[in-house]
Amino acid sequence: MDSSIPARPIGVFDSGIGGLTVTAELRRLLPHETIFYIGDTARVPYGGKSPATIERYSLEISDMLLTAGAKMIVVACNTASALAVPKLEETLPVPVTGVILPGARAAVATTRNGRVGVIGTRGTIRSGAYERAIHALAPEVRVVSQACPMLVPAIEEGWLEDGITDGIIARYLENLAGSGIDTLVLGCTHYPLVKAALARFLGPGIRLVDSAENCAIAVRELLDVHGIGAPDSGKGRLRVALTDASDGFLPVAEKALGLEVGEIHLAAVQR
Ligand code: DGL
Repeated sequence: MDSSIPARPIGVFDSGIGGLTVTAELRRLLPHETIFYIGDTARVPYGGKSPATIERYSLEISDMLLTAGAKMIVVACNTASALAVPKLEETLPVPVTGVILPGARAAVATTRNGRVGVIGTRGTIRSGAYERAIHALAPEVRVVSQACPMLVPAIEEGWLEDGITDGIIARYLENLAGSGIDTLVLGCTHYPLVKAALARFLGPGIRLVDSAENCAIAVRELLDVHGIGAPDSGKGRLRVALTDASDGFLPVAEKALGLEVGEIHLAAVQR
């Protein structure tokens, strides 16, 4: 193995600010790793786009991360995890992990009554990826899904505590709340940013599961398996590039997630 690999960054991407929830967990769990994050803000949201488009975007962003020396790719986006991870695993020369399997594992470990709700973008829900992953682990679990396409734009706008966001949540989750579920998977990496609003609407009887922490654990395992973890002595950094300017990015990263983001670079993509 090339001895320079452990010191290289972990490449992480999402359509926008959502993948920062995964990044915050990675920084907490693996503080000695450097992370290079790309938010594809020029093309956000991914949620309503076709599988072929999401695959193309994911390959393009992954290439940019590889060019910057990434030793691993973390797909910190449920939509891209649902629609593009098989293609990335097949074509990229580095280990790849998504967020669906870690989230499914956490849901199965959390539910007591075997009824799990999943919310996500249209692309994620339509793909059936969570149902498949949950049923592969626990075929008896009943899964109820709901797409919430308006939530990502509200979160990208920085409306984390806002009456409009509360209204969007109430409108989408009304039926799910009364469906007997005891666990709800936040199947979009943007949604942990409105966890408080979701919990307020659903009440204490429904536990919320997000895949960020479980994804970070999966990354640590993968680094170990491949022997490419950064030495514990180093201090990792967070580097951020966006494919277009975004007003909501910095306040959300710094205020809501406590991430130290230095200079944000621009990385152009073809729309
Ligand atoms: N944060 C992403 C996800 O987890 C994408 C949201 C979007 O761009 O629609 O699905």
